[in-house]
Amino acid sequence: MRIFKEIKTIQNWCKEQKLQGKSIGLVPTMGYLHDGHLSLVREAKKHCDIVVVSIFVNPIQFGAGEDFEVYPRDFERDTGLLEEEKVDAVFAPSNNEMYNPDSSTFVEVTGEITGKLCGASRPGHFRGVTTVCTKLFNICLPDKAFFGQKDAQQVMVLEKMVRELNFPLDIIRVPIVREADGLAMSSRNVYLDPEARQQALILNEALSEAEEAIKNGERDTARLKNKLREIIASSPLAEIDYAEIYDAYDLADVEKADRKIIMALAVRFGKTRLIDNRLVEV
Ligand code: PAF
Repeated sequence: MRIFKEIKTIQNWCKEQKLQGKSIGLVPTMGYLHDGHLSLVREAKKHCDIVVVSIFVNPIQFGAGEDFEVYPRDFERDTGLLEEEKVDAVFAPSNNEMYNPDSSTFVEVTGEITGKLCGASRPGHFRGVTTVCTKLFNICLPDKAFFGQKDAQQVMVLEKMVRELNFPLDIIRVPIVREADGLAMSSRNVYLDPEARQQALILNEALSEAEEAIKNGERDTARLKNKLREIIASSPLAEIDYAEIYDAYDLADVEKADRKIIMALAVRFGKTRLIDNRLVEV
């Protein structure tokens, strides 16, 4: 497995792979890998000849006062796991390599799709994500890029960017991977103490109950949102950031769950903010 730290070197290597007729799958990550990331890698291996994983904790997608400095990092462990998965190359640049101090170019998707949910709670977050992904796409030249459905809004925003800016690649969505008890896998789960970890199960439970209600004929999204909020509020440590239901394609408001919808949650347990979601089609 090759480990690259410099943009020019990996870009040249990726060009060579393409000249040899190989397809490239890119899995962008911020490291501290778990089974959710590994499921992206396995999917990429199925679709592409060469798999590149990037590990970069992208400073520009964190807001002031967020967890950039303390975001968990373990490069040795990550590269060990990727070696086992037979990944071809890892791209792990430094902050200076990715961003010149005078860097002033950003890629931004505007409108409802970035104005709601995490876009409202974390201003500038998606601009950071779309900018770094544009750079990663230009550096690693992927035919396909793999993202987890856990970050549902992120993948919707990236799909829109790729469509509207005509990037020559496909975005592949990979389903959420959960712990045995239902908690969606996240690098941030390590922040939870045992009590919060237990109470965090309420996210998946609330989504399952609301999904069940839809299957039983409930269509009123106001009532469904109340249901989500009531269930989550039964966990004393849970503080709701949002519990919303929108159109699954563009995050438009929906009064009735009569099309493909997304139920999206962000809930804080102390300083730890967890997200989860469920797509439901009636
Ligand atoms: O989902 C993530 O880990 C990050 O937002 C991503 C896509 C790697 C961009 O930094």
